[in-house]
Amino acid sequence: MKRVIGYYMLLLVLSAACSQTEVNQKNEKETNVSLIQNHSFSNIDEVHTTHLHLDLNVDFQNKRLKGVARHHLNNPGFQEVKFDIKSLKINKVTLGTETKESITNHEIKGEIDPILGQALHVKIEPDTKYVNIYYETTEDSDALDWLDSSLTSSKNKPFLYTQGQAILTRTWIPIQDAPSNRITYSADLTVPNDLMAVMSATNPQNKNKQGKYHFEMQQPIPCYLIALAVGDLVYGKLSENTGVYCEPELLASSMYEFVDLPDMMNAAEKLYGRYAWEQYDLLILPYSFPFGGMENPRLTFANPTLLAGDRSLVSVIAHELAHSWSGNLVTNKTWNDFWLNEGFTVYFENRIMEEIIGKKGADNLALVEFFELEEEMERIASSTHPEDGHLFLDLNKRNPDDGMTDVAYVKGAFFLKTIESVVGRGKMDNFLEDYFNHFKFTSVSTEDFIRYLNKELLEKYNFSFNYDEWIYGKGIPENCLRIKSNSFQHMEEMAYRFAKGENIFLIHNESKNKEKAFKRTQYSVQEWLTFIRNLPEDLTFAQMALLDDELSFTTWTNAEIQFEWFLKAISTNYETAYPALKSFLEKVGRRKFILPLYAKMYKYDHSKKNAVDWFLLFKSNYHAVSSNSIEQALEL
Ligand code: BES
Ligand code: ZN
Repeated sequence: MKRVIGYYMLLLVLSAACSQTEVNQKNEKETNVSLIQNHSFSNIDEVHTTHLHLDLNVDFQNKRLKGVARHHLNNPGFQEVKFDIKSLKINKVTLGTETKESITNHEIKGEIDPILGQALHVKIEPDTKYVNIYYETTEDSDALDWLDSSLTSSKNKPFLYTQGQAILTRTWIPIQDAPSNRITYSADLTVPNDLMAVMSATNPQNKNKQGKYHFEMQQPIPCYLIALAVGDLVYGKLSENTGVYCEPELLASSMYEFVDLPDMMNAAEKLYGRYAWEQYDLLILPYSFPFGGMENPRLTFANPTLLAGDRSLVSVIAHELAHSWSGNLVTNKTWNDFWLNEGFTVYFENRIMEEIIGKKGADNLALVEFFELEEEMERIASSTHPEDGHLFLDLNKRNPDDGMTDVAYVKGAFFLKTIESVVGRGKMDNFLEDYFNHFKFTSVSTEDFIRYLNKELLEKYNFSFNYDEWIYGKGIPENCLRIKSNSFQHMEEMAYRFAKGENIFLIHNESKNKEKAFKRTQYSVQEWLTFIRNLPEDLTFAQMALLDDELSFTTWTNAEIQFEWFLKAISTNYETAYPALKSFLEKVGRRKFILPLYAKMYKYDHSKKNAVDWFLLFKSNYHAVSSNSIEQALEL
């Protein structure tokens, strides 16, 4: 429908008979349709960028990027192009190529929308192909995290990285910030000459003395995947086309932790076809990085909390690698379709992990997530937005980040797992490989997916499936695939017996057979997570201390374990763990961990004051994505 209106509009604009007011009214309408669907002020249905060239200076002194964004447009004859901007200072806008530029009028229209920012309207000619926006970032450019050297692992060089998803790219680049438009990009960056720059593009493997770097991304990507990092980086090669960037101190541990990356790549390609982006590297960021991982093409950004020392948290890497197909190759058309990115990716991630650690381990990973989904569903059902239990969302007037719940991730993945259990793995795998191939380098809506599912799987083989209930209904449907895990059941029982007052350690220690004495290493990280989660919220101090004596949870430096343990320490007011909790909050900025920890501290009288005091103390260590969410939770 939108495309039809766009074409109709073009005819109207070109026709001399049409009045200006008529056009303006249509324009209004068009903008609103577009806005609702993609959280963008841009007019991509009329004029859209096809290639972006960035020429930027990275200024650590002033914590500012400054330069020009050169947009190569596809313009069928329009006289205005609209970009998204937020917290940017626009210095001038020109038309034409570098050798022949002329200044044009631009106007920043409307009030600043706290979520979307503003629209930058640029006057162009019907034959304009090049628009150059000279600009600089500001201290409110939320995509950017400028870290003082004290927050890096070397502690002697500063660091910068960007986070674009969902709609933060507009805070560091003036751009048409909608996931349905794809662009290629190139960049020339100047950085301090003791640092290296890397992007979601072709990357250097060594520093250069001039601090000048050139980048190319030749496959079209949605602009939330444009990413940049600058720091004291080294490169370690893992295979012909995989490797790790990190600060020098982390190289050995990163190479150890992610040694399975080439195997993951093989497993992924075997499942759903050739990797489309040539190179796949990881970049280990400082601890402030607000996510576990971010699937920037050719260069996944990863949180150093994944460096557990025992490869126990590498499923996050399988997840980001899987996005090279689901998300980066086939992209959600709007943020309402976010489950198409994440649900498919969690499904695919689990298939990769099955190849790496086997079916039982992969099932346990999926089951940990399923338990999280059940909890999240309860929270959502009693929230002000119970409809967030749907896979397909309505995020109109809301922050697209609100869609980042276990519904998109885990309900999405279990939807696919359940289909698989009905049609069989062979048919499912063929279907998914065809889906990625059919839609590669395009954006897909939920409706597009349903049409394809019907045509290529359900109707083709005569299966009936309640996909409407899954996609447009609130809960977890009756037919959802259930996973059973004997080892998890055992952990649940142990937690239950311990809570009842039974000393589970004593029983084991009394056993004659020394070999079988109860040890922490006897169980996996996921099994211990299940144990901790199943402990009640009101254990006594003595019980918490006994667990700590036997299992040393407080000093176990695995971020997932620390997180679950600290949640219990808060509800039970187990003060022994508070210094460790405080150091964790000082160092780690990953939102999945710190938001629930602060929120829980805030909930209990005994820890409420600490929540606010510590947050104010550590806020400057966090990326805006995390600190903005925590500010809301703490009602600041
Ligand atoms: N693409 C997401 C991160 C994201 C989503 C950032 C929405 C901003 C808006 C990434 O792939 C992700 O899902 N990360 C997870 C990993 C996990 C589910 C394995 C994370 O960071 O926890
Ligand atoms: Zn993801």
